[in-house]
Amino acid sequence: MYSEFDLDKIDLSAIPPAEEPDRQYYFMAKCREWIRGFEEKNGRIPSCCVTTFGCQMNARDSEKLVGILRRVGYQVTESEDADFVIFNTCTVRDNANQRVYGRLGELKSRKKRNPDMKIALCGCMMQESAVIEKLRTSYRFVDLVFGTHNIFKFAELLCRSFEEQGMIVDIWENTDQIVEDLPVERKYPFKSGINIMFGCNNFCSYCIVPYVRGRERSREPEDILQEIRQLAAEGVVEVMLLGQNVNSYGKNLKEPMTFAELLREVEKIEGVERIRFMTSHPKDLSEELIQVMKESRKICRHLHLPLQSGSTRILERMNRRYTKEQYLALAEKIRREIPDIAITTDIIVGFPGETMEDVEETIDVIRRVKYDNAFTFIYSKRTGTPAAAMENQVPEAQVREGFDRVLKVVQDTAREQVARYQSQRAQVLVEEVNEHDEKLLTGRMSNNTLVHFPGTVELVGRILTESRDECQRF
Ligand code: 5AD
Ligand code: SF4
Repeated sequence: MYSEFDLDKIDLSAIPPAEEPDRQYYFMAKCREWIRGFEEKNGRIPSCCVTTFGCQMNARDSEKLVGILRRVGYQVTESEDADFVIFNTCTVRDNANQRVYGRLGELKSRKKRNPDMKIALCGCMMQESAVIEKLRTSYRFVDLVFGTHNIFKFAELLCRSFEEQGMIVDIWENTDQIVEDLPVERKYPFKSGINIMFGCNNFCSYCIVPYVRGRERSREPEDILQEIRQLAAEGVVEVMLLGQNVNSYGKNLKEPMTFAELLREVEKIEGVERIRFMTSHPKDLSEELIQVMKESRKICRHLHLPLQSGSTRILERMNRRYTKEQYLALAEKIRREIPDIAITTDIIVGFPGETMEDVEETIDVIRRVKYDNAFTFIYSKRTGTPAAAMENQVPEAQVREGFDRVLKVVQDTAREQVARYQSQRAQVLVEEVNEHDEKLLTGRMSNNTLVHFPGTVELVGRILTESRDECQRF
């Protein structure tokens, strides 16, 4: 099997290997030849920029793209004034799609100035056929389009875009393939996301994710643990286990394993000091997981537990498969067992058929659970989901009113919660020099609260005990 260190040894006159990941290493070597050609012609190294929209999963996918781009010889920049720009897109809400179209318009004028420039689009939005149609008709200057299922083939697609003229579109409907051992370039040296599973089987009626990310597939535990051991050896102290619903991890493995069992194994890895995970569906959160979290020294005191709505009637229409009472009982049990935990959530306002009474139910849950933070979204109609076909879409004015009411309670509760930690001493992982004041550092507490305190750049990546003066939640 090839690795990223073998690129110079690969025989490019041979036919491409059929097996993965060798096939992709072959194409990386081939892309490298193209990049060398660019350097000779232009007397400089080409630059690339990967812009990520959406969630942590996309952020991790972007790290994989950057890993390959760097290996084939690109210089990575943050500026979209680059020779190769990729948008890794999100389609969970329509405003994310609109932003991509807006930004594409800006790229068009850049490409006019730099005709060698390449533009690629990938991610969830590309799994929608209406989007592909629109790109083919109105955005013909895009060079490469691929989706979520074939991202592991990026090197091969990049190579094709060097060899062929015109827009290349390669979208797969679905896959159960998981390709291991491709290069990844982490954004932070001291913390990393790790995919533990892909896709989602829950089909919440408003959500497009199961259609664009496909059915649930778990990675083998040994592959995950090996990746984390390697990360720890490279100096990573905080890992974030990623999946659309981590609580159903392991169900489809040949030898099934629960998420709590996986966490116990991760806990044993030396060098890993903090373990986080995203996201937990309340219907699948087990007693075993609560106990593992309670006993753990390393699992962070933070649980993201999406509520979506506090009204049992709306939850049923959303196909969430829990009631208001069940959610409240779960949150209460978690707070009882792990008193220092922070609970955060996602809330949707304006789901079809939602009344002001339903919004009041949501507000009641916020007050009772006392969320440390909540992301509040206005319902966005996603074509192809069951909710898009439901009657009683809520009028905009009512949605706005409900949204503002929810937001106010969320902010009040979050402020009360954060006041609990004022002037306490707590362990923080230093993440960066503060954006606004270079004399300050920004760090994250175990419970996900961000704190700012005086310090210098060499402390970035270290875990310190700090007293808290000013704090801000994310
Ligand atoms: N409209 C608004 N918000 C949505 N989310 C998912 N789908 C939609 C939609 N159609 C929200 C949910 C989810 C978060 C990631 O995005 O709250 O938890
Ligand atoms: Fe979407 Fe529901 Fe799956 Fe989350 S659990 S990704 S909201 S379908």
